[in-house]
Amino acid sequence: MSKPKVLFVCLGNICRSPTAEAVFRHKANAAGLDVYIDSAGTDGWHKGELPDVRAREAGSRRGYSFAGQTARPVADEDFEDFDLILAMDRRNYSELTRRALETQTGKIRLFLDFGTSSEKEVPDPYYGGQGGFEHVLNLIEDACDGLIATLENLK
Ligand code: 4NP
Repeated sequence: MSKPKVLFVCLGNICRSPTAEAVFRHKANAAGLDVYIDSAGTDGWHKGELPDVRAREAGSRRGYSFAGQTARPVADEDFEDFDLILAMDRRNYSELTRRALETQTGKIRLFLDFGTSSEKEVPDPYYGGQGGFEHVLNLIEDACDGLIATLENLK
Protein backbone atom coordinates (compact mmCIF):
# COMPACT_ATOMS: atom_id res chain seq x y z
CA MET A 1 0.00 0.00 0.00
CA SER A 2 1.27 3.55 -0.68
CA LYS A 3 1.13 5.88 2.32
CA PRO A 4 -1.92 4.60 4.18
CA LYS A 5 -4.57 7.04 5.36
CA VAL A 6 -6.24 6.25 8.68
CA LEU A 7 -9.29 8.06 10.09
CA PHE A 8 -10.34 7.61 13.73
CA VAL A 9 -14.02 8.25 14.40
CA CYS A 10 -16.09 8.74 17.56
CA LEU A 11 -19.28 10.66 18.28
CA GLY A 12 -18.13 14.19 19.09
CA ASN A 13 -14.48 14.16 17.92
CA ILE A 14 -13.43 15.80 21.17
CA CYS A 15 -12.53 12.87 23.47
CA ARG A 16 -11.82 9.41 22.04
CA SER A 17 -10.90 9.92 18.38
CA PRO A 18 -8.60 12.93 19.04
CA THR A 19 -6.86 10.81 21.68
CA ALA A 20 -6.49 7.95 19.18
CA GLU A 21 -5.13 10.41 16.61
CA ALA A 22 -2.55 11.79 19.08
CA VAL A 23 -1.46 8.36 20.35
CA PHE A 24 -1.26 6.82 16.89
CA ARG A 25 0.71 9.77 15.48
CA HIS A 26 3.23 9.41 18.32
CA LYS A 27 3.56 5.64 17.95
CA ALA A 28 3.68 5.68 14.13
CA ASN A 29 6.46 8.29 14.28
CA ALA A 30 8.39 6.22 16.78
CA ALA A 31 7.99 3.15 14.52
CA GLY A 32 9.11 5.11 11.43
CA LEU A 33 5.77 4.43 9.75
CA ASP A 34 4.72 6.93 7.08
CA VAL A 35 0.98 7.27 7.51
CA TYR A 36 -1.59 10.05 7.13
CA ILE A 37 -3.72 10.35 10.28
CA ASP A 38 -6.90 12.29 11.02
CA SER A 39 -10.00 12.04 13.20
CA ALA A 40 -13.65 13.07 12.93
CA GLY A 41 -17.02 12.72 14.66
CA THR A 42 -20.22 11.18 13.37
CA ASP A 43 -21.89 14.25 14.86
CA GLY A 44 -21.03 17.91 14.26
CA TRP A 45 -22.06 19.42 17.65
CA HIS A 46 -18.49 20.27 18.64
CA LYS A 47 -17.21 21.37 15.23
CA GLY A 48 -14.18 23.71 15.54
CA GLU A 49 -13.56 22.94 19.23
CA LEU A 50 -10.26 21.82 20.71
CA PRO A 51 -10.15 18.31 22.16
CA ASP A 52 -11.76 18.11 25.63
CA VAL A 53 -9.43 19.52 28.28
CA ARG A 54 -9.63 16.26 30.28
CA ALA A 55 -8.51 14.27 27.23
CA ARG A 56 -5.67 16.72 26.60
CA GLU A 57 -4.51 16.62 30.22
CA ALA A 58 -4.58 12.83 30.41
CA GLY A 59 -2.85 12.42 27.03
CA SER A 60 -0.23 15.11 27.68
CA ARG A 61 0.75 13.39 30.93
CA ARG A 62 1.69 10.35 28.82
CA GLY A 63 3.62 12.46 26.32
CA TYR A 64 1.07 12.78 23.50
CA SER A 65 0.53 15.99 21.53
CA PHE A 66 -2.87 17.28 20.42
CA ALA A 67 -1.32 20.17 18.42
CA GLY A 68 -3.36 21.28 15.44
CA GLN A 69 -6.45 19.26 16.33
CA THR A 70 -9.94 20.74 16.09
CA ALA A 71 -13.19 18.81 15.89
CA ARG A 72 -14.87 18.18 12.56
CA PRO A 73 -17.74 15.96 11.43
CA VAL A 74 -17.19 13.03 9.07
CA ALA A 75 -17.53 14.16 5.44
CA ASP A 76 -18.76 12.10 2.49
CA GLU A 77 -15.30 12.39 0.86
CA ASP A 78 -13.72 10.66 3.88
CA PHE A 79 -15.20 7.35 2.76
CA GLU A 80 -13.31 7.68 -0.54
CA ASP A 81 -10.13 9.36 0.77
CA PHE A 82 -9.22 7.06 3.67
CA ASP A 83 -8.00 3.46 3.53
CA LEU A 84 -9.07 2.61 7.07
CA ILE A 85 -11.91 4.19 9.02
CA LEU A 86 -11.78 3.09 12.64
CA ALA A 87 -14.87 3.36 14.83
CA MET A 88 -14.50 3.73 18.59
CA ASP A 89 -17.77 1.95 19.38
CA ARG A 90 -20.55 0.00 17.71
CA ARG A 91 -22.81 3.02 17.47
CA ASN A 92 -20.11 4.88 15.50
CA TYR A 93 -19.58 1.75 13.39
CA SER A 94 -23.28 1.48 12.52
CA GLU A 95 -23.51 5.14 11.65
CA LEU A 96 -20.43 4.93 9.40
CA THR A 97 -21.61 1.80 7.59
CA ARG A 98 -25.04 3.38 7.11
CA ARG A 99 -23.45 6.42 5.42
CA ALA A 100 -20.85 4.60 3.31
CA LEU A 101 -21.41 3.30 -0.20
CA GLU A 102 -21.49 -0.48 -0.38
CA THR A 103 -18.05 -0.49 -2.01
CA GLN A 104 -16.61 1.49 0.94
CA THR A 105 -17.91 -0.47 3.92
CA GLY A 106 -14.86 -2.77 3.93
CA LYS A 107 -12.70 0.15 5.08
CA ILE A 108 -14.72 0.53 8.27
CA ARG A 109 -13.58 -1.45 11.30
CA LEU A 110 -14.03 -1.44 15.05
CA PHE A 111 -10.75 0.09 16.27
CA LEU A 112 -10.38 -2.28 19.23
CA ASP A 113 -10.34 -5.27 16.86
CA PHE A 114 -6.66 -4.36 16.52
CA GLY A 115 -6.12 -4.58 20.29
CA THR A 116 -5.68 -7.41 22.76
CA SER A 117 -8.40 -6.39 25.24
CA SER A 118 -11.61 -8.37 25.59
CA GLU A 119 -13.35 -4.96 25.41
CA LYS A 120 -14.33 -4.20 21.85
CA GLU A 121 -15.59 -0.64 22.34
CA VAL A 122 -13.81 2.45 23.65
CA PRO A 123 -16.35 3.70 26.24
CA ASP A 124 -17.54 7.29 25.94
CA PRO A 125 -15.75 9.16 28.79
CA TYR A 126 -17.58 12.48 28.27
CA TYR A 127 -19.98 12.30 31.21
CA GLY A 128 -17.66 10.45 33.59
CA GLY A 129 -14.61 11.33 35.67
CA GLN A 130 -10.90 11.52 34.90
CA GLY A 131 -10.53 7.76 35.43
CA GLY A 132 -12.55 7.19 32.29
CA PHE A 133 -9.95 9.08 30.29
CA GLU A 134 -7.14 6.91 31.67
CA HIS A 135 -9.05 3.77 30.72
CA VAL A 136 -9.64 5.19 27.22
CA LEU A 137 -5.90 5.84 26.89
CA ASN A 138 -5.03 2.29 27.98
CA LEU A 139 -7.36 0.77 25.38
CA ILE A 140 -6.18 3.13 22.66
CA GLU A 141 -2.47 2.56 23.32
CA ASP A 142 -2.96 -1.19 23.11
CA ALA A 143 -4.97 -1.06 19.86
CA CYS A 144 -2.48 1.40 18.29
CA ASP A 145 0.30 -1.14 18.86
CA GLY A 146 -1.74 -3.78 17.02
CA LEU A 147 -2.62 -1.37 14.24
CA ILE A 148 1.06 -0.51 13.72
CA ALA A 149 1.97 -4.20 13.53
CA THR A 150 -0.78 -4.71 10.93
CA LEU A 151 0.36 -1.78 8.79
CA GLU A 152 3.99 -2.85 9.03
CA ASN A 153 3.01 -6.22 7.59
CA LEU A 154 1.47 -4.47 4.57
CA LYS A 155 4.68 -2.55 3.77
P1 4NP B 1 -16.35 11.58 22.03
O1 4NP B 1 -17.14 11.97 23.36
O2 4NP B 1 -17.38 10.94 21.10
O3 4NP B 1 -15.33 10.61 22.50
O4 4NP B 1 -15.77 12.85 21.47
C1 4NP B 1 -18.30 12.75 23.39
C2 4NP B 1 -18.21 14.12 23.28
C3 4NP B 1 -19.34 14.88 23.37
C4 4NP B 1 -20.57 14.27 23.57
C5 4NP B 1 -20.66 12.91 23.67
C6 4NP B 1 -19.52 12.14 23.58
N1 4NP B 1 -21.72 15.07 23.69
O5 4NP B 1 -22.80 14.50 24.00
O6 4NP B 1 -21.67 16.30 23.51
